[in-house]
Amino acid sequence: MKKITNLTNFLFEQHTHSKKSTELGNIISQIVLATKIVSREINRAGLVDILGKTDKINIQKEEVQKLDELANTTFTELLRQSPHVAAVGSEEVDNIVVFTDKIHHTAEYIVHIDPLDGSSNIDVNVSVGTNFVIFKRKSKSGKLQKSDYLQAGKNAICAGYIVYGSSTMLVFSSGKGVHGFTLDPSIGEFLLSHENIHYPAITTIYSVNESYEPKWNDAIKHIVSEYKTSKNHSGKPLSARYIGSLVADFHRNLLKGGIFLYPADNKNPNGKLRLLYEGIPFAFLTQQAGGYSSNGRLDVLEIQPRELHQRIPFFVGTKNEVKHLEKLLC
Ligand code: AHG
Ligand code: MN
Ligand code: MN
Repeated sequence: MKKITNLTNFLFEQHTHSKKSTELGNIISQIVLATKIVSREINRAGLVDILGKTDKINIQKEEVQKLDELANTTFTELLRQSPHVAAVGSEEVDNIVVFTDKIHHTAEYIVHIDPLDGSSNIDVNVSVGTNFVIFKRKSKSGKLQKSDYLQAGKNAICAGYIVYGSSTMLVFSSGKGVHGFTLDPSIGEFLLSHENIHYPAITTIYSVNESYEPKWNDAIKHIVSEYKTSKNHSGKPLSARYIGSLVADFHRNLLKGGIFLYPADNKNPNGKLRLLYEGIPFAFLTQQAGGYSSNGRLDVLEIQPRELHQRIPFFVGTKNEVKHLEKLLC
């Protein structure tokens, strides 16, 4: 019989039931609960007109709002319930949310989240997701410092994403490989379904929004044109796949071997994607899965964030393709 294990037990086993694993296990179990709630709401999207306001009043006595905000409220409130989470940085909130309830006085972890990634796709029933990364504060105690929540991705403790697709899958790493868990709705558990995920050796896919081609620099134009010929590492033309949800494009490329590009352009000199809760989670997982990610000049995990919603040009996927691109851009 295939080994049946859920996410929390897997984490405990990975970190031999250490203090760190129980703290991480508690945070991850809050993320899992939030994921199940958001997954349920997404699956009802067509029924409750998720894009607009519904006439439903939720527990915070507010009218249920569009899914970005609902996902943000759900993840933030459930993370607040963990005594180990000191603060949350969210795409949906301008500043860091520091938790100051009594239970948080020894909290040591910071979680950055993109509560709903690819939200423009929700109304056309295309896969969306949630991305997260967990850091441990650097300062020992007292008021949280900027240096606690603006850390380079190489300091991350754990990162992952949920893709709400044909099934709901949570893919994560705590520094010991990348592992995928699929939600079994009949028992409400995430069960191990993809242990030790690695990028395939051969790249077969490239993902980029080609409508921006007129705004790219010549190097990017040249590289993308190469993907359509046999002049790339795989020796044959790559397939173009791009659905506009980073989490779904990333997940497919991780499993099938691909490179994702969101370059800077003459309108967005720093690109569109945000370093802390879009770049770093995928950069952390990619390193663990044998791939590489870059902002075009350096490893994303080496970039020191200057502010919460900092944008970067983002290239992520199979190591040889991303390294080749970085060389051509430098
Ligand atoms: P979000 O929904 O969190 O704002 O993220 C959307 C991002 C990312 O998911 C996707 O890869 C990218 O926006 C698509 O951007 P374009 O529509 O410009 O291609
Ligand atoms: Mn996003
Ligand atoms: Mn988002």
